[in-house]
Amino acid sequence: MIPAQLLTNLNDKLAAALAQLKASSDLQKLYDAKVAFAGKQGFLSEIMREMAKLSKEEKPLFGKEVNRVKDEFEKAYTAREDELKSAALLDKVNKERIDVSLPGAHLQAGAKHPIAMVMDDVIAILARLGYTVRTGPQIEKDWYNFEALNIPPDHPARDMQDTFYIDADHVLRTHTSPIQIHTLLSEKPPFRALAPGSVYRCDSDVSHSPNFHQIEGLLVDRQVSMADLKGTITFLLRELFGSAVNVRFRPSFFPFTEPSAEFDCSCPVCVGKGCRLCKQSGWIEIGGSGLVNPRVFEAVKLDPKQWQGFAFGFGIERMAIIKYGIDDIRLFYENDQRFLRQFNV
Ligand code: PHE
Repeated sequence: MIPAQLLTNLNDKLAAALAQLKASSDLQKLYDAKVAFAGKQGFLSEIMREMAKLSKEEKPLFGKEVNRVKDEFEKAYTAREDELKSAALLDKVNKERIDVSLPGAHLQAGAKHPIAMVMDDVIAILARLGYTVRTGPQIEKDWYNFEALNIPPDHPARDMQDTFYIDADHVLRTHTSPIQIHTLLSEKPPFRALAPGSVYRCDSDVSHSPNFHQIEGLLVDRQVSMADLKGTITFLLRELFGSAVNVRFRPSFFPFTEPSAEFDCSCPVCVGKGCRLCKQSGWIEIGGSGLVNPRVFEAVKLDPKQWQGFAFGFGIERMAIIKYGIDDIRLFYENDQRFLRQFNV
């Protein structure tokens, strides 16, 4: 007979261990309970040492008892382990649940600014005539902005009212024409250059901004005439505003072109009949142009007997105002989303 006290101890400890398995709330605690009961230094190993004290007949009987207890414990352990594992999985699934029927986050698409759109349009149209883009600095030496363009020191365009001076020798460029000079100095003609960019003049009201944009064209070749210039400008304006528009040239003056002409386009809004945009005249002023003045070629050490050219330039804001019917230039710079969103097509 196995001593009753030994059997009671075995059964009591089993009952306690089973209760501990039940009470284990996670896999780690469950494992700790297993180590304490059935591990190498656990209760079962300890009680096995008692076996030495038993008789030959008692030993196998006790061994059987211990095995029964061990099996029972293992079964309960595996059952509880399964329980905890599936509870953990369920918990994870619940936590990671997403409602695929919820509306997604609304992404606002950006868009090109109307000034950039007009600039890109002009560049794309003139690219078809072989023009490519050039750029230049916004802070210019006096020589590039004025002197080389045949604008002498006493010219009214240099008046402090119009020009932002950085110091005695540097200005914020007042037009894109200094890019003509950079191009003439750095490239061998013939070429067709387009110069878009930001320009600055000390002027501000509903139709003037101290910082605005221009685009400038310069073609240099052996033989260039006013007819070439007129054809180019007419092509550009008809591509921009539609084939129905007419173009006219008026004699004008720019120090860096000779002869010079301003060019107008028949009002694309009223088709020449007269409206608010064209101030009832049927025409809209667009920009300035002319044949490159020989003095400009001389300034950049090109021989005016060998080279001829034409140049033209105009304000981008003005074109955007005409194209989109905008009545206040300041709208372009205020970044009002309600204004800008209208161009997002
Ligand atoms: N630069 C001139 C202006 O800003 C425009 C122009 C460019 C005129 C090229 C003739 C030739 O008014």
